[in-house]
Amino acid sequence: MPAWAALADLAGRVGEVSLRDRFALDPSRSQRLAGPVGDLWVDWSRHPIDDEVLGLLGDLADQRDVSGFCARMLAGEPVNATEGRAATHTALRAPDGHADIGATLDRMADLAGRIRDGSYTGATGAPIRAVVSLGIGGSYLGPAMAHEALAHLAHPEVTVRFSSSLDGTDLTAALDGLDPASTLVVICSKSFTTLETMVAADTALAWLREGVGDDLSRHVAAATSAPERAAARGVDSDLVFPLAESVGGRFSLPSAVGLALMVAIGPGAFGEMLAGMHTVDRHLGETPVEANVPMLLGLLDVWHRSFLGATSLAVVPYSHGLRRLPDHLQQLMMESLGKRVKADGSQTSGPTGSVVWGASGTDGQHAFFQLLHQGSDVVPVDLIGVARPVVDPRGAHHDALMANLLAQAEALAFGRTDTETAALGVAPNLVAHQAFPGDRPSTVILLPELSASTLGQLVALYEHRTVVQAAVWGINPFDQWGVELGKQLATRFGDLLAGAGADVDRSEPSSELVRRYRELRDRD
Ligand code: F6P
Repeated sequence: MPAWAALADLAGRVGEVSLRDRFALDPSRSQRLAGPVGDLWVDWSRHPIDDEVLGLLGDLADQRDVSGFCARMLAGEPVNATEGRAATHTALRAPDGHADIGATLDRMADLAGRIRDGSYTGATGAPIRAVVSLGIGGSYLGPAMAHEALAHLAHPEVTVRFSSSLDGTDLTAALDGLDPASTLVVICSKSFTTLETMVAADTALAWLREGVGDDLSRHVAAATSAPERAAARGVDSDLVFPLAESVGGRFSLPSAVGLALMVAIGPGAFGEMLAGMHTVDRHLGETPVEANVPMLLGLLDVWHRSFLGATSLAVVPYSHGLRRLPDHLQQLMMESLGKRVKADGSQTSGPTGSVVWGASGTDGQHAFFQLLHQGSDVVPVDLIGVARPVVDPRGAHHDALMANLLAQAEALAFGRTDTETAALGVAPNLVAHQAFPGDRPSTVILLPELSASTLGQLVALYEHRTVVQAAVWGINPFDQWGVELGKQLATRFGDLLAGAGADVDRSEPSSELVRRYRELRDRD
C-alpha cells in the first residue's frame, strides 16, 4: 500500500513537532480536528497528526477499501469470512429491520412491559419483581454496563441483577434476598453451551425449584441462537427469545441479550438506545471519511498501533454511570482485534489490536495516571465526559469532575517543561521528577447527557471504530477462535480434578499443580 509506506516514513518525523507547537501554529486546530457524531462531540486534536497524516490515513482507508467493507457489513453481506456469514448487529437497530427482528423486539417489549406493570406472574400467582440475567462475555458485559449507565432510568420496584462468574460467590450474591416465587431467570447464551452460564443456570434453576416446585415455565427465559438447546434445558418456548447466529456476542447489546436491560429501563428507553445506535450506523455509512468520526478514530488507532508503536488504549469515562464501559470495550476491541492472521489465513505484516483497559476518572487519576503522565510508554487515552449530570448534589460535583477531564487532556498533551518546573521553585535535583514530558495523546468524547440514546451512540461509535481497524489490517473482527483452546483444556482439567484419588500422570506438565490443588482442596 503506497499510503502505508508514506505513513511509515512520516511516523519517524511526526514527533519533531510537539503538540504545543502544533496548537501554537494553528489556533483553529481544536475546531478543525473535532466534530460531531450524532449528539456526541469528539475532539481528536491532541494527537500527533497534521493534514498530511490525516490525508494519508484517508488514502490508506481508500486503498484498503474500508468504506466498502463497512458498506458490505451494513448491507448484511458475509463480511465474517472465516465463519462464512454476515455480521448483522446493525440490522438489530435499523427501523426498517427484518420482520423476525421486530417480532422478537415486540415479544421482549410485551414481557418487559408486563413485568414492569406487575401483571406478569409466576407459578404461585405472585408478580415477578426481580430478573436475574445469567451470561458471560458478550452475553453479559454490554447489558450489565448499560444497566449501570442507565440506572437512573431503572424501574424503582423491579430488581435487575446480572451474574457472569463461574465462581459461585457471584450467583449467590445475585440471588441473595430474592424470592424465587417472584423471580425470573434469563439465561443469556448465544451458543447455549458456555460452561460458565450452564453451571449458573443449573444452580439458579435448582434454587427456583426449591422455591416454587417443578413448574418453572414462567420463571426461566432464554436469549439464544440455539432455541432447541434452551428447550432441552426446559425453557418454555414462549420465553425463548432468539438472536441470529450472525450477531456476534460482543455486538449483541441491541439483541434479545438485552432483555433484562429492557425490563429495567423499559421498552421505550431500549428503543431510544437502538435509535441512537442507528444514528451512528448511518453516520458510518453516509459520511465522507474526513468527517466520519468512527472512521477517523479507527484510523487514529491504526496510526498509533501500526506506526507509532503504542500497545494499549486507556478508556477513562468521567462518569460514574459509565464506569463499566472499559470492561465492555475490552471484549469488543480485544476479542475483535486480537488476531495475528488475516482473514485469508496469511500472517499480518505487523501488530494489530491494542490492550484496552481503563477505569472511571477521577479514580483512575489516583491509580494509573502517574504512568500515563510520566511513564516510559506512550498510552493513547480516551477521556469521556457528560455535559449534564444525572445528579449533582449542591451543584458542587459536576463542573469539578469535568474540570479534571479537561485538566488531564491538557496536562497529557502539553506537559510542563524543566524550565517551567524550575520556575515554580522546585529544587534543582527534583526538576526532572516533577517535569511532565507532554505529547501524550488523548481523544475527548463529550456526551450532552447520559441517556439511552447517547449511550447507544457511544457504543456504536466504538463498534465501528473497531471494525475500521480490522478492515485496515485485513483481519476478521467477527470471529474469536482464540478463546476455544482454553475452553477445551478446561473440560480435560475438569475431568482430572474430578478424579479425586486417582493418580495424575507425572508426565503432565501441570501434574504437580493438580496434585497440590487436590491436596489443599481435600484437606480437613
Ligand atoms: O469468550 C468467548 C465467547 O464466545 C464470547 O465471544 C461470547 O460473548 C461469550 O463467549 C459467551 O458466549 P455465549 O453467548 O455463547 O454463551
